[in-house]
Amino acid sequence: MDNIIKDSATGVKSGIERSKRSFLSFLIGLFSIGFIGGAGKVLFQYIWPPKKLTGLETDGGNKVLNIPLSEIEVNSSKKIRFAGGTYIVIRTERGVFALSAVCTHLGCLVNWEPDAQEIVCPCHVARFDLNGNVIGGPAPKPLQQIKATIVNGKIEIKES
Ligand code: FES
Repeated sequence: MDNIIKDSATGVKSGIERSKRSFLSFLIGLFSIGFIGGAGKVLFQYIWPPKKLTGLETDGGNKVLNIPLSEIEVNSSKKIRFAGGTYIVIRTERGVFALSAVCTHLGCLVNWEPDAQEIVCPCHVARFDLNGNVIGGPAPKPLQQIKATIVNGKIEIKES
C-alpha cells in the first residue's frame, strides 16, 4: 500500500509517518508563501515608492505641502514623496506628525501601527515613537522629523 512506510529504527510500518510528513510539508509551504509575500511587499514599496502629492508650494525658499485633512483620517497615515525624500504623515488624536519613512537601520519603509501607537519597520521590527525616537529594535538613529501642523483644514508639511 502507498500510505504504509516502514520505520527504519523500529521496523514498524505506519501510515501515520507519511501523514506527519505531508502535514509538515504543508506547513513549510504555507510559511514559505507568507515569507515570500511579505518580502515581495517590502521590495515593491522600495522599488515603487508612493506617488507625489499635489498641493506643493514654496514659502521663503522652503517647500510646503498641503494635504486636505480628509485624506488622512485620525489614527491613520500616508506616505508621501516630498523635498527629495519619502515621508510618513501620521494623524492621531494628539495631532499630526511627519517623519522620514526610511528606517535608519537598512532603509526599509516604516509603517504606522495605530493599535500600538508606534511606527514599525517591517524588515527587522525597529520601533519608533511619534517623534521618531527609537524605542526598540536595531535602528541606530531616530527618524528625521519635519514640521507638520493643521492650518485651515489642511495638514501643512514644511521643509525645515
Ligand atoms: S531596515 Fe528597518 S529594522 Fe532593519
